[in-house]
Amino acid sequence: MDPYLVGLDLAGRRVVVAGGGTVAQRRITGLLAAGADVLVVAPEVTPAVEGMAGAGEITWAPRGFADADLDGAWYALACTDVPAVNAAVAEGADRRRIFCVRADAAPGGSAVTPAVGRHDGLTVGVLAGRAPRRSAAVRTALVEALQTGLVDDTADPVTPGVALVGGGPGDPELITVRGRRLLARADVVVTDRLGPRDLLDSLAPHVEVVDASKIPYGRAMNQARINELLVEHARAGRFVVRLKGGDPYVFGRGFEEVQACAEAGVPVTVVPGVTSAFAAPAVADVPVSHRGVAHEVVVVSGHVAPDDPRSLVDWPALGRLRGTVVLLMAVERIGAFAAALVDGGRAPDTPVAVVQDGTMRIQRSVRATLATVADVVREHAISPPAVVVVGAVAGLRPLAPPDPALRSRNAALGPVGQRPGSGVRGSGHPGSAV
Ligand SMILES: C[S@@+](CC[C@H](N)C(=O)[O-])C[C@H]1O[C@@H](n2cnc3c(N)ncnc32)[C@H](O)[C@@H]1O
Repeated sequence: MDPYLVGLDLAGRRVVVAGGGTVAQRRITGLLAAGADVLVVAPEVTPAVEGMAGAGEITWAPRGFADADLDGAWYALACTDVPAVNAAVAEGADRRRIFCVRADAAPGGSAVTPAVGRHDGLTVGVLAGRAPRRSAAVRTALVEALQTGLVDDTADPVTPGVALVGGGPGDPELITVRGRRLLARADVVVTDRLGPRDLLDSLAPHVEVVDASKIPYGRAMNQARINELLVEHARAGRFVVRLKGGDPYVFGRGFEEVQACAEAGVPVTVVPGVTSAFAAPAVADVPVSHRGVAHEVVVVSGHVAPDDPRSLVDWPALGRLRGTVVLLMAVERIGAFAAALVDGGRAPDTPVAVVQDGTMRIQRSVRATLATVADVVREHAISPPAVVVVGAVAGLRPLAPPDPALRSRNAALGPVGQRPGSGVRGSGHPGSAV
């Protein structure tokens, strides 16, 4: 018989979980999200389950299962790694007419757990007989279709207003789930030059895209005009996504846009993003902090020179730091910034890494020192957008790849690391920086 798919209201109701391993842990989080009163019975539990008990989210009985544990329960999960114990839980539950899932042998229980996905107030559950990978794959595909707007689930009209969305450093997979979801609901998208441009291609034809790019020392849409556009579209009853590169509040002028909307009485929601200040170094194998190496990370804007009267940066203080200095918008004046750090006391042989177009297919990176970085940047024609990392972390290397073929390819890359081929995304690899 096919099981009958149902949604249980478990709020405030006792659910017994026998076992405290990773299977139990995965189920407990869902039960807590449903507001269940969870009793975990297990001599040992994972650190995460212990943490939930310590925080008072669940009750943990640190012992073996006893039949009386099921008294007063509405639902039970047998998740131990001992089949006889799981069978005892299922039998005890049957006697009391409590539905019970047996994690080790589904037919031995009276209920099965569907593959569950959530999206914007929807819960999707999929059962595929005894094919858990199939149900998980279908669940994931359904949720992705909802997240990307492939399935139009807009039962409620979208409220007019503005969402200020941090799109991440460029790789379209590095936007947040919430950002992606709101983008799929937009009537108007006001974009930047930086950020996940590839996502624009997936927007529905009716979505109006406004290019608000600012090219360094080149064409740029005036910030006041951007603010006006957001307000005008929202007032005309549209849902506007202001899609920005990285995080909207890290040198992104995002707060000015929020202020403009607030002044105009336009509702705004802010979705943080993955900032290029940390993501670009990360994909080039440069950690901005490392145990025993750097205990401080300072992110600095290089949009004005150190001696510019508008500068708010205390360069002598930065020069005295021992930790990591991450410079954005600093490529054109890298010589002046390096000199300012050395003047402030930083050693000229301090390692420096420069990562251009981090997370993009065309990502490149170079390594240098404070003394050499200006020449290296010029020599390799490094251009914006690029992140400069100053400090001992820029001298760290991951372990050499075990594959000899990969090792020789990396050696052949020379002083500039370049991301291989299109479609290579995600975490850094040993070839992404030298
Ligand atoms: C106006 S700031 C915006 C920063 C953005 N809000 C963030 O959090 O990443 C632009 C600067 O960010 C850096 N940047 C942005 N995207 C980058 C990328 N993919 N690779 C390297 N640097 C990037 C560059 O320093 C660029 O000049």
